[in-house]
Amino acid sequence: MRALICPHIRRLKAYVPGEQPKIHGLIKLNTNENPYPPSARVFEVLKRAIDARLRLYPDPASLSLRKTIASRFRCGTDNVFVGNGSDEILALCLRAFAGEKRKVCFPEPSYSLYPVLVQIQHAKPLIIEFGKNYALGLKRFRRDAALTFIANPNVPSGTFIPKRALARLARRLKGVLVIDEAYADFADENCSSLFKKFPNVLITRSFSKSYSLAGMRVGFALGDRALIEALLKVKDSYNVDRLAQAAAEAAFRDQRHLRRTVKRIRRTRERLSRTLLKRGWEVLPSSANFVFARPPGIPAARVFRHLRRKKVLVRYFPGKMTGRFLRISVGTDKEIDFLLKAIHSMPRLMKS
Ligand SMILES: Cc1ncc(COP(=O)(O)O)c(C=O)c1O
Repeated sequence: MRALICPHIRRLKAYVPGEQPKIHGLIKLNTNENPYPPSARVFEVLKRAIDARLRLYPDPASLSLRKTIASRFRCGTDNVFVGNGSDEILALCLRAFAGEKRKVCFPEPSYSLYPVLVQIQHAKPLIIEFGKNYALGLKRFRRDAALTFIANPNVPSGTFIPKRALARLARRLKGVLVIDEAYADFADENCSSLFKKFPNVLITRSFSKSYSLAGMRVGFALGDRALIEALLKVKDSYNVDRLAQAAAEAAFRDQRHLRRTVKRIRRTRERLSRTLLKRGWEVLPSSANFVFARPPGIPAARVFRHLRRKKVLVRYFPGKMTGRFLRISVGTDKEIDFLLKAIHSMPRLMKS
């Protein structure tokens, strides 16, 4: 059986995005999900959609959802692509724009899926390291890369690159620039308008974070018609299921609910950052629904283990630039109070 599997696939570790909780009663602040439920309209639409039509395949083109998204972004339906989570869209970008041995440029530390996708495709990774305080030297990005990924806001840092800077980069690059905006709804600004100015810019968005639909697996991309067409050519026929299309459309139509939950999360994010800062932590400015913070005078890994014992899951990434920090997803106010109390109960942190 092993002989049937390509050698490079055997070498790859299975990609597991985050730890899933196995015990009830855990406070899950480790995978940047939304702590609030999706719009009530999602439940209404799903209830109505659960009937005998489930025997039918879904619309392969996700046309109704694409039209709804297009009208909000004032573009054509053919400028919108819908995928099985934005992860699927990122994978399709490799298939569509970067074949074997083609150069794919991305920063590090950033979304851990990028290097995995590059390896699966046998493409050539060009890694640009973030500098001090997570500043990114965009001039170091290679002009001749077939594909460039930039998560904005970035993970795990939560930091943001201004639109002007990414516009300059888009102008300079010869290949496709994917601006991964999975967390953009939590930021003060975003780069979505760049796809109208630059035919090589593809914006990707997620329904998993701001729309509270991680369980439905829907993401979308905005780009020039030629880019969208290339993605349509390489996708599976029925890549987004019937219920997911219906749920995402209902969620997208309820922009009021989106604004309300985003506002709550941003408010809690600011409170969490302020409190940690007051207790001596170093906290990077976050434009996302998580905070990347460094505990004072104690290894982050120890705080991580202490929190896990207290049944609070946060994310710890070992490594030169990440190993002194913890990434904490913004939960409800109650969850964050519990987290802060759990941190406070740690003997060496109590003094700070
Ligand atoms: C930067 C970034 N892009 C994309 C994704 C994937 O999102 P989705 O759930 O839409 O596949 C994530 C998920 O955590 C992410 O952090």
